[in-house]
Amino acid sequence: MPMPKIRSLRNQLVLALCVLVSVVGVVQGVSSWQLSKAGMSALLDLRLEQVATRLYHSGLADSLPTTPARGSQPERDIYLVVWKDGIETPYRSTDPSLALPRDADPGFTTAMVNGESWRIFTLREPMMVVQVAQRSRVRHELAQATSLNTLWPMIVLVPLVWIAVLLVVRRALRRLTRLGAQVQAIDMTHFDQLSTSGVPTEIRPFIVSINKMIERLEQSIEGERKFISDAAHELRTPLTALQLQADNLQPHIAPGNQERFRELQAGIRRSGRLIAQLLRLARADAAVKADTVMRVDVAAVVVDVVAEVLPIAMQRGIDIGADEMTSAYVRANDADLGIALRNLVSNAIRYTPDGGKVDLSVQQRDGMVWIEVVDTGPGIDEALLPRVFDRFFRANLQIEGSGLGLSIVLAIVNRYGGSASLRNRTDGQSGIVATIGFPAVP
Ligand SMILES: Nc1ncnc2c1ncn2[C@@H]1O[C@H](COP(=O)(O)OP(=O)(O)OP(=O)(O)O)[C@@H](O)[C@H]1O
Ligand SMILES: [Mg+2]
Repeated sequence: MPMPKIRSLRNQLVLALCVLVSVVGVVQGVSSWQLSKAGMSALLDLRLEQVATRLYHSGLADSLPTTPARGSQPERDIYLVVWKDGIETPYRSTDPSLALPRDADPGFTTAMVNGESWRIFTLREPMMVVQVAQRSRVRHELAQATSLNTLWPMIVLVPLVWIAVLLVVRRALRRLTRLGAQVQAIDMTHFDQLSTSGVPTEIRPFIVSINKMIERLEQSIEGERKFISDAAHELRTPLTALQLQADNLQPHIAPGNQERFRELQAGIRRSGRLIAQLLRLARADAAVKADTVMRVDVAAVVVDVVAEVLPIAMQRGIDIGADEMTSAYVRANDADLGIALRNLVSNAIRYTPDGGKVDLSVQQRDGMVWIEVVDTGPGIDEALLPRVFDRFFRANLQIEGSGLGLSIVLAIVNRYGGSASLRNRTDGQSGIVATIGFPAVP
């Protein structure tokens, strides 16, 4: 399927305006060229006519030299020929080699003389004919030179207008580009309204609707979160009572039923864990309270979490330790950081067979603090990996779990502008490398 062509509004505008300017420039250039040529020609004609009438009325014809040298006149000059009635040859001529047609029509004519085209003005008076002529080529050259000069302003101006168009369009659309970046930054954790100040009126309706949408989205996500939180909270109390009652009941259960009763107790415990995870998820999804955020020593949190899970690890013969530990700080709620890390470590221990190994490390690079949890478990099918952060998704149904742990991790890292990832080990061993990163603070 051919992809639809994605075109930039800026490029479209710039192209259209530049083409328009160029067309106007060319039309203007051609018309001024033509006008100037016609004007020049009229001027040169006027001059021929003026010389002829002047020559006749002032009687200057007689003062012209009778025998001028042939070909002595400059090429661009005006040539004069005076005829008198009754005399076959010209009475006076500025160049005797120029044989102008004596019988030419009065007024302006163009004729071939001596193999060249000439523009001739013929003044026919009683007793006398005055002819004034100029080479057509010379006239043409004069007109050409002048009209070329009229093109210069256009040739210089059009590229300048192109540059101006580019600058103006870019400036006008800069605000739009900035808005695009703001819209792109909206996600489940950042519901900032877009500012309408300084926004062009054409764009304002979009901003207003996007803002309304952001508000509705925020409300609906908050509503969902609150429902989960309330439901989990409401369920917790009766479930605790249930657990207590079951514990009290145990001595009174007949020995033959003890096995089934233990299953019932395990079920209650499972439900309790699910509710606890739901509550954590709802908390991690809520907007972070500014006064609970502080500078947290990541290494200290890692040490705490390792100490916490050490008894279970030892019980299962799993060697848990932290090798590479950089002292690094992040801005977060230390409880959140603990919950995120505890989920990763508990996954590593839970899914790694007895006698395995779990390694933690803290590194700081690219302005981020990275906590890595590496295990020697079976890893995860590559096809299922992209879904492990989904709520309630479980890749391994043999081992008990609610499928919420990694969703909680993701919600927490998103809260602080961090990131989380899970990948299979690539160093020849099976196992998972789980990584979370938070922006580092000094
Ligand atoms: N270190 C790991 N090794 C192998 N599989 C893992 C590992 N970590 C996570 N998984 C797989 O990813 C799934 C999702 O993990 P997640 O922590 O979200 O849920 P869970 O562990 O099943 O439940 P919960 O953590 O809420 O008790 C798990 O069910 C498991 O199949
Ligand atoms: Mg888990």
